[in-house]
Order: sequence, then C-alpha cells, then structure tokens
Amino acid sequence: MTAKELRKKYIEFFKSKGHALIPSASLVPQNDPTVLFTTAGMHPLVPYLLGEPHPGGNRLVSVQKSLRTDDIEEVGDNVHNTFFEMLGNWSLGDYWKKEAIGWSYEFLTDKKWLGIDPAVFGISIFGGDDDSPRDDESAQIWKSLGIPDERIAYLGKEDNWWGPAGVTGPCGPDTEMFIRTGRGEAPKNFDPKDGDWVEVWNDVFMEYNKTINGSHAPLLQQNVDTGMGLERMLMVLQKKESVYETELFEPIIEKIRGLAKKQDTKAERIVADHIRAATFIIADGVVPSNKDRGYVLRRLVRRAIRYGQILGIAEEFAAEIGSVVVESFHDIYPELKVHREKIANELGKEDIRFRKTLDKGLREFEKLGQIDGKKAFDLFQTYGFPWELTRELSENKGQMVNQEEFEGEFKKHQELSRTAGAGVFKGGLQDHTEEVVRLHTSTHLLQAALRKVLGNHVFQKGSNITKERTRFDFAHPQKLTPEEIKKVEDLVNAWIEKDYSVKKEMMPLEEARRLGAIGLFGEKYGEQVSVYTICDSAANEVISREFCGGPHVEHTGVIGKFKIVKEESVASGVRRIKATVE
Ligand code: ALA
Repeated sequence: MTAKELRKKYIEFFKSKGHALIPSASLVPQNDPTVLFTTAGMHPLVPYLLGEPHPGGNRLVSVQKSLRTDDIEEVGDNVHNTFFEMLGNWSLGDYWKKEAIGWSYEFLTDKKWLGIDPAVFGISIFGGDDDSPRDDESAQIWKSLGIPDERIAYLGKEDNWWGPAGVTGPCGPDTEMFIRTGRGEAPKNFDPKDGDWVEVWNDVFMEYNKTINGSHAPLLQQNVDTGMGLERMLMVLQKKESVYETELFEPIIEKIRGLAKKQDTKAERIVADHIRAATFIIADGVVPSNKDRGYVLRRLVRRAIRYGQILGIAEEFAAEIGSVVVESFHDIYPELKVHREKIANELGKEDIRFRKTLDKGLREFEKLGQIDGKKAFDLFQTYGFPWELTRELSENKGQMVNQEEFEGEFKKHQELSRTAGAGVFKGGLQDHTEEVVRLHTSTHLLQAALRKVLGNHVFQKGSNITKERTRFDFAHPQKLTPEEIKKVEDLVNAWIEKDYSVKKEMMPLEEARRLGAIGLFGEKYGEQVSVYTICDSAANEVISREFCGGPHVEHTGVIGKFKIVKEESVASGVRRIKATVE
C-alpha cells in the first residue's frame, strides 16, 4: 500500500462512518495558544472540543501536518520524525469508547481496509490515578474484540494520557495500539518498552478540562480524539525496517546520497527529516529567526547542515533538498508549490548564514593546535562549533580527540548549571537569608519575564545568587536592547506589586514535566520534585512554574524593587543578567 492509498483509505473509512473531511490546518496554530506548532490533529479543534459547534458536524476526519521537536535526538532511528502526517478522527460529544475502539479495530483488521492480523497487536490502557480511574471500559471492549489479557498493558499518565502541552485544556485517558514488527512470531506477552512493538494509533477519550489550578473538571461533552502516524503505519504495512525506507523519504534520501561523499545512515535520515520539516514550516509562513517558531526552524536547518557536513557535503545544499520535498508532497499540500521560491530562498539564506558562523569557529580551531576534550568543549560552548566536526577535522589532521574528555566537560557544565538551578549555593550549605530568598524568587520572575518578552527559547543555563545580587545565565542568541531590558524589568516589578502568592507542591518528576514546569531536570533529584508556581488567579494565567529546590518567599510583594544592573554575553548563544532587589 502506498502513502496515497493509506491517506485515501483512512478518509474513506471514516466517511463511511458519517465523518466529514476537514482540511489540514497550518503548522502554525490558530486556535491553541498553548503550543508553538501544531503537534497533533486536535490543536485546531480545541474550541470545538470545549463545546463550540463545528460547521462540519460532530464527526470529523483529517490528515493533519504535525511537528514535534521534543524527540529530536531520537530522529535518525527507525521510527522518529519531527514533521509527520497524522491521520485522525473525532467525535465531538457524539460517539464514545465502543465505537471509537471498534472502528479502530475494524480499520486495522478488516481485509477491505488494512487487513492486519490481530495476532500482532499489543494494547496499552490507562491504569488509573487520583485524577481518573483505571479505564476498565476500554479494556472490556478490547477483550470483547478478542485481544487476550497478556497483550494488554496498563500504564500511567506519562504513557496513556493525552493532554495539552500547555497548562490548561481538554484531556483524558487514552488507549494505544502497537504492532509487532520484529522478525518471527510475536511473543505471547506485550511489552510496551520493547522497541519491536511500534505504536501506531492512539484513541484519546477526552472527558476532562485541565484547569489553571491543576484540577480535572468534567468537559461539557465527551470527545474522542484519535491519531495515527502515517509514516509509521506505512512502514508497518510495507514491512520496511524504517520510516525512511518508505516512498515518503526515498527521493529525499536518494538526493542526499547523490550529494554525499560518505555514507552514514543516521546523518542521511537527520538531514532528510529536518529539511522536510523546515520546508513545510516555511510554507506555513515562518522564517528563520531568533525567536519562537523562527528559532525552532533555524535549529532544524542548522542541525541538517551540520549532519550534511558529516556526510561530506561541503557546498550549500539545503535549498536543493527542499525542492525535492516540494516535488514529493505538493500534490497533497499545494502550499508547497505556491511558496516554492520562498522555501528555496529562506533555506539558501540560512545555509549561507550558518556557514559563516561555522567559519569563525573553524578559524579558532586552526589557532588551537592539538585539540583536547576541553578545547573541543570550549569551541562548542563559545562558537557553537559541533563536536562531530571537531572530531572529524582533528582526525583529518591525524589527531584523535578524546570523546570521553569532551563528554566529561559537557557533563561538568550541565552539573554546574543544574546545581545552580536547584538552588544549591556555593559553599555547600544553602543560604536562607532573607535577601537571598527574595532574590531567588525574583530570579524565577526574571526567567518568566524573559520568556514572555524574548520568546520561549529562553531557558536557564546557570544561576548564582549572593546576598547582593542574582546572576542568571540563559539561552538567547543576541544582546538585549535597552527597550527589552526595560520591558523585562517592568514586568517583574508589576508581578511583584500584584503580590501573587508563591505555591509549593511536591510531585513526581513526570507530573512536573507534564504541567509544563521549567527547570533543569535530571535523574539526580529522584522521583519527587518540588514545583513552585506563581499564578495570576484573576486572569487564569500561570506566571511562572519551575521545578526547583527553593527556598522562596510566600508572596511576591515582599521582594522589593527589582533592577537589572548588567546584561552581557558569556558564550555563544548565552547571555547573562545581573540584578538586584531593594
Ligand atoms: N492527540 C492524540 C495524539 O496525538 C491522538 O496521540
């Protein structure tokens, strides 16, 4: 079965069950401010999941362009992509679990549709917690369809719950369908952690609305939201070992191989994935920049170029690959053709810009002579010069760089930032003096204000607080303008004046992550973490939510007047602010 046939069959099947086809929405969300990009078919539907009537009725089907960058490090394995197409169907207060699961099963197994043998199925189901009970109803339905107990796994929120990436919104338990792809017969027991079981489809039962205070209120209506990754399903149907071997990627990979001087499967896949994603993002109106969506796009293109270098592609190539993407997908997504020139132009410009940055790093590299792990790390830290490149260039000169040493430096650096982030101050003992505590809370407000003014790419790289001042290092590519500094200062002072309360809660790391808490996560903290939340209850807005060791003030009003006294660069892409409170 081809990708075209799969898209068509899915739509046809759900049309036959009374669903109206809706077109893919833009990758830039119009209806959901909680996400930078559309990460699933449900984002464009948020108002309708909350009860507004949809013009297409209460049964919908779509093929939605989606982008997820949280697993970017996994891209290059067999099943991960940043950009992907999601086949989805929805019930807006209409049918419920029996129909949703029944139709998923019918579409997967019936010879008229996909005709997959159910002997290769594994099913995961929400196991229950304080917010919602175990989903026995779904389990019953799966069993009635013939799925044996040993092929059903009950998992927690981190696996079987779909909720908004932001803090509030429609959510609920889900049941996921896995297919065994390994060679030979599928084992008797389903183990969702075994990578040969590939997750292909998710049926979410949205019956809650997560509110600002973290509670789960019942939604006005019970909705079904499902999502099937086109790439993965196609891989399974075509019995390919990887999504990159399907026709969705073949022409792109072929082009990359034609330009490459070396063979490296992972690098090829990363280039193909990232340029494909970038092409779709540009077609939806985003251009590379240092803020929000533009920053994500920039990262994708630059990462692709780096991996292009690993493949020995010395010349600019991003635009050329982009044009293959346009060719491959424009019949389904005509916006690619409409913006063909703009895509080539933006990819080309970014390619040139990045090469200049790299050139600077390269000159520095030449000056350094024999490179050790520490120097390699300095190059990475100061010039954004990639490790792979340092290693390769050194090897070309017949020198080996000690990767362990580089990684050691890297870890040391992370460790330092983490320690600072946890509020553990130099000298071992935590300083709980009043001044330090006030500065500590103001540092959280500072990070929140920076994210609000500069964009969500801002995140803490390190922090150090003395009685006199706070020092805060964060990711941002350029100097702040005096206006930006003033805006940040004013915002922090406005929040201080509002005298918001600072709430501390203990929760599992996963829960903190899911709530969108920011901070430097690491295993080191163990399971339970403390999360500090500063909320504007009147506006239903979370101002700051960070996971952190504390201590903090109880009310922002006691902090005093906040003042930024210095803004400077510490490394490439890292700025430092020093601030005081009086
Ligand atoms: N929104 C659900 C998902 O993306 C269907 O998995």
